[in-house]
Amino acid sequence: MKSILLPKPTRFRGLSLYETLQRRKTARSYESKELPLQTLSNLLWAAFGVNREIGPFGDPGRTAASASNSQEIEIYVLLRGGSYLYDSHRHELNQVASGDIRWIAIGTRQGRNGAEAAVRLIYVANIAKFSTAGYQEPGLYDKETQKAYFYVDTGLIAQNVYLFAASQGLVAWFHNCDKEGAIKQLRLSPTQLPLFGQTVGYERLEEPDSHE
Ligand SMILES: Cc1cc2nc3c(=O)[nH]c(=O)nc-3n(C[C@H](O)[C@H](O)[C@H](O)COP(=O)(O)O)c2cc1C
Repeated sequence: MKSILLPKPTRFRGLSLYETLQRRKTARSYESKELPLQTLSNLLWAAFGVNREIGPFGDPGRTAASASNSQEIEIYVLLRGGSYLYDSHRHELNQVASGDIRWIAIGTRQGRNGAEAAVRLIYVANIAKFSTAGYQEPGLYDKETQKAYFYVDTGLIAQNVYLFAASQGLVAWFHNCDKEGAIKQLRLSPTQLPLFGQTVGYERLEEPDSHE
């Protein structure tokens, strides 16, 4: 299995926060055009990259908050050429599956919509990470509280992705995922729970109607 060492995230420019918020939306129709590697690098950094070497409780800080800085959400990156786990600390992608399995990023009920989009992310909560969180509190070991934490933490990352996409002229779509497919195809362990998917890419706009 290969790794992709991502280029360092750049100090990218984009729309202002106001214009970005104006444009943020869900789009469900995509061009089958890949992202430049630098854009993919910037996207993953914006999603949940390391933005401070020393953050809360002495651990590295990330672009999205997480309960007790537990950083329990793992991002799987599904591309046409294979699927990878994002390692935020090394800023690289480690391959977990070969071939094109972008279709598992959406619930089976929803067909193969968006399967041609450049990138499909799958958010996975690794509950084992709660035990290494910088600040240990009882909620980290309570099932209901864990659930609240990992859903909120996923939402914060997903909004980073929506905003990054809008600021860069891309679009995104947060959605359910095929959980059984994800467990099998991404070879998840029993402590890893697939939660949601998010598609990112270039929007396919409808052809203008040629009729008068
Ligand atoms: C928790 C959650 C689950 C979602 N699941 C799906 C989904 O499975 N399929 C889908 O097409 N959209 C899904 N969406 C996208 C919403 O339908 C969409 O965000 C909503 O209609 C508002 O549209 P907007 O994002 O363009 O403002 C989901 C959004 C959230 C926050």
